[in-house]
Amino acid sequence: MLVSLLIWIQNLEIFADLRSSGYAFPTILALHLCAISLFGAMIVATDLRLLGWAFRGSSIAAVVDQLRIPKRIGFLLAATCGFLLFCSKAEDYYYNAFFRMKVSLFLLVAVHALVFRGSVYNEPAKLDGTTGAPMRAKIAAAISLFLWICILCAGRAIGYVQSQPGEFRHYL
Ligand code: HEM
Repeated sequence: MLVSLLIWIQNLEIFADLRSSGYAFPTILALHLCAISLFGAMIVATDLRLLGWAFRGSSIAAVVDQLRIPKRIGFLLAATCGFLLFCSKAEDYYYNAFFRMKVSLFLLVAVHALVFRGSVYNEPAKLDGTTGAPMRAKIAAAISLFLWICILCAGRAIGYVQSQPGEFRHYL
């Protein structure tokens, strides 16, 4: 049932064109990477500040608040490009172990947001104090960095496996 839906999606004209075009797919993949660079830089800067390992001359609130908008823009662009790439070869990606790993990691990111958004990322002013950020903020930052690094690795690995286990695509 789900597979039939995915096949229907990838056969829509827009996604069939995207798949077969020599330029569109690589261009969107490149945009995906540009957006990830922007988004990743914002994540790293925010989390390093929460950990107290960088930007200690600025308050936590200043860093978190200033980077929030570019972080959201980067994420939105990366997610949109990722979604387009996925739709163009939905069936292949559905069977891809690293794509599944990436989706599972996104679920963990959602859990992370549910647990820490209210008490850490949305209330940065409360984290500024003479003794540095509280332990929950540091734990949130460390988990966030770990999850996003895993997502980067899983994303990069998607292109190296075929639908059938054991087969590898060498195209770089
Ligand atoms: C915003 C966080 C995301 C990060 C950090 C991320 C990371 C990556 C990375 C590192 C690559 C490899 C690029 C390359 O081979 O040069 C990639 C490719 C890809 N990503 Fe994402 N991604 C994100 C979001 C998404 C979303 C939301 C989707 C789908 C709904 C998605 C679907 C894909 C697909 C289909 C590919 C192409 C894999 C291939 O055929 O080589 N990504 N991603």
